[in-house]
Amino acid sequence: MKQTIGFALSILASVVMLAVFYSGPASGAAPAKLDGKQIFLAQKCNLCHSVSSAGIERTMKSEKMAGPDLTNLAAKQDAGTLTKFLRKEGEINGKKHGKGFTGSDEELGALVSWLQQQKK
Ligand code: HEC
Repeated sequence: MKQTIGFALSILASVVMLAVFYSGPASGAAPAKLDGKQIFLAQKCNLCHSVSSAGIERTMKSEKMAGPDLTNLAAKQDAGTLTKFLRKEGEINGKKHGKGFTGSDEELGALVSWLQQQKK
């Protein structure tokens, strides 16, 4: 009898420990800090743009479609201009951007401030 109770208790203990283990990270973790570089890559901006200061090389080979290396370029624009440009609401050098940003405003904010720090 004693043995059975001991066995049951140890099962219970492992169930509780498993539950704590699995619920811990999901519920307790702070929201991930938005990382402009990660957003840049996730939005596939690196298809057309290198950012040499961050070690990013564009993946598209065609010179005709590709955009410029954004190092020292985005830093010249203010945040408002870049934000509008990337939402295709505004122009840079008299042109609208080919690709509209599809993420949230928070992500766009993080992306724009990261871009503005890319200088060499
Ligand atoms: C399909 C190719 C393509 C993709 C994808 C792309 N771009 Fe561009 N981008 C261009 C081209 C080409 C230009 C040059 C201006 C023009 O002709 O629109 C440009 C211009 C820019 C500029 C302005 C540079 C300057 O002259 O000051 C910024 C900033 C920029 N892109 C950021 C981004 C970001 C951020 C992303 C991802 C959300 C992105 N681009 C995705 C092609 C692309």
